[in-house]
Amino acid sequence: MPALADEPFTLVIFGASGDLTRRKLVPALWSLYAGRTLPEPFAIIGSARSAVSDDEFRRRMREAVREFARVKPPSANVWDRFASSLSYVNGDPADLALYASLERALRDIEKARPGPANRLFYLATPPSLYDAIVENLGASGLARPQGGWTRVIVEKPFGHDYESALALNSRLARVFREEQIYRIDHYLGKETVQNLLVLRFANGIFEPLWNRNHVAEIQITVAESIGVETRGAYYEEAGALRDMMQNHLLQLLCLIALEPPVTFDAGPVHDEKNKVMRAIRPIDPRKVDEVALRGQYGPGFVGGKPVPGYRQEKGVAPDSKTETYAALRLQVDNWRWAGVPFYLRTGKRLAKRVSEIAIRFHRTPHMIFHRDPAGGVDPNELVIRIQPDEGVALTVAAKMPGPELKLLPVGLDFRYGEVFGAEPPEAYERLLLDAVHGDSTLYARADWVEQAWSLLSPVLDAWAHDGAPAPYLYEAGSWGPAEADSFIARDGGAWRTP
Ligand SMILES: NC(=O)c1ccc[n+]([C@@H]2O[C@H](COP(=O)([O-])OP(=O)(O)OC[C@H]3O[C@@H](n4cnc5c(N)ncnc54)[C@H](OP(=O)(O)O)[C@@H]3O)[C@@H](O)[C@H]2O)c1
Repeated sequence: MPALADEPFTLVIFGASGDLTRRKLVPALWSLYAGRTLPEPFAIIGSARSAVSDDEFRRRMREAVREFARVKPPSANVWDRFASSLSYVNGDPADLALYASLERALRDIEKARPGPANRLFYLATPPSLYDAIVENLGASGLARPQGGWTRVIVEKPFGHDYESALALNSRLARVFREEQIYRIDHYLGKETVQNLLVLRFANGIFEPLWNRNHVAEIQITVAESIGVETRGAYYEEAGALRDMMQNHLLQLLCLIALEPPVTFDAGPVHDEKNKVMRAIRPIDPRKVDEVALRGQYGPGFVGGKPVPGYRQEKGVAPDSKTETYAALRLQVDNWRWAGVPFYLRTGKRLAKRVSEIAIRFHRTPHMIFHRDPAGGVDPNELVIRIQPDEGVALTVAAKMPGPELKLLPVGLDFRYGEVFGAEPPEAYERLLLDAVHGDSTLYARADWVEQAWSLLSPVLDAWAHDGAPAPYLYEAGSWGPAEADSFIARDGGAWRTP
């Protein structure tokens, strides 16, 4: 975590009575504060329609921190100091009157402390309110810097499809400059995701291998064991492609595939990610089935317990065609990656919660160990585990001890927890800190978001079509539909079992 110079700032959270504020935002801010990395002096104003006093807001946030923060409140003293920076402004974000109250609260805070008026607005409401909030921030004058910086963090989803993403970006651009806008993708704040770039570009041994001459295929898996929980109604409108693929998995693909940026700064990193997006082969609307597959979980068992199927979940239509599993086969048509398939899959109610990137290398050109009774060995594989049990593992062939020449794959394994001892910071900690410091490297730029939606448009259209076949069913607790195996087997491959 960077320890940069202190600068005063005030964070205004819209939707502060919601789940995200309670589970992620305030616990992350607390952990930063407790770890002495949050710039000071700071103030946090929660805002929502629920009528809550400052004290009640602080009490709720203390509960939230106790339940969800990486760093638990150590002593009443430290908590009280943190809590004295929390306040609450009640109002409807769609009503311009709220912004006058916010302006007063901000001015009171800024008058009482030295330094510039730095302001960060966090949109943690349902996305249907983003337009109104952005417009009101503009109309009230709050979007204009007041002698310091003014920034806005926008939560995912950034739109529902290409057209709505364009509309949201242009709404934002009418009020803010691009460098004021921070589109959050919490996957990019994860330590292992950042470590991916360190692995690639701070080690001399990997980069020479990182291309079509040595890499046979890449698999990116983001698997969840949970179902839609209480978010059935939301998920019905989203599905796996919008909820996970358009953002997290495509971001991971870009980080794996990008060319070395000139420096690890926002501009160069965003430029290189965009070049990858431009190189991904567009999906032919007439051949969507060749590159995309969808599934939906039926009833099954997870952790030994019976669980309902997706269509039996609350808020889900009994004949829903929403996909809870999606797989893609993409090609990056450039010098480095021509011919290397990128397989992406994500799903809910899969066998295990795991996110990983697996890079499979070519086999050796000739096997000299012909006396190996097994007849050969698996190719080398580099696996970057993003969660849980963050780390990096390389499988290599080794000789089994004994008189026979028998080869076996063994793992050279690096585990974050073991090496560094401490739990890595939460993604929101890093991302909030970066926004305060004005570093948008780990955020999504407008053009990237638009390209990601544009790439997936043919798939979204094909799946939304009335006559489209229903998603393939899979048993909850499995690794997805059987058809996903034939999907990848067409190229002669197989999904890894993480
Ligand atoms: N929860 C997560 O883990 C998570 C993860 C990734 C992204 N996100 C994104 O983060 C954002 C917030 O998520 P969340 O789960 O915290 O949402 P949420 O709990 O559904 O809503 C947040 C707050 O917004 C206010 N609100 C809801 N409907 C409103 C309306 N019609 N008019 C005015 N205010 C309204 C509510 O406060 P009042 O009723 O008190 O006004 C509510 O407490 C969403 O865009 C979501 O997609 C959430």
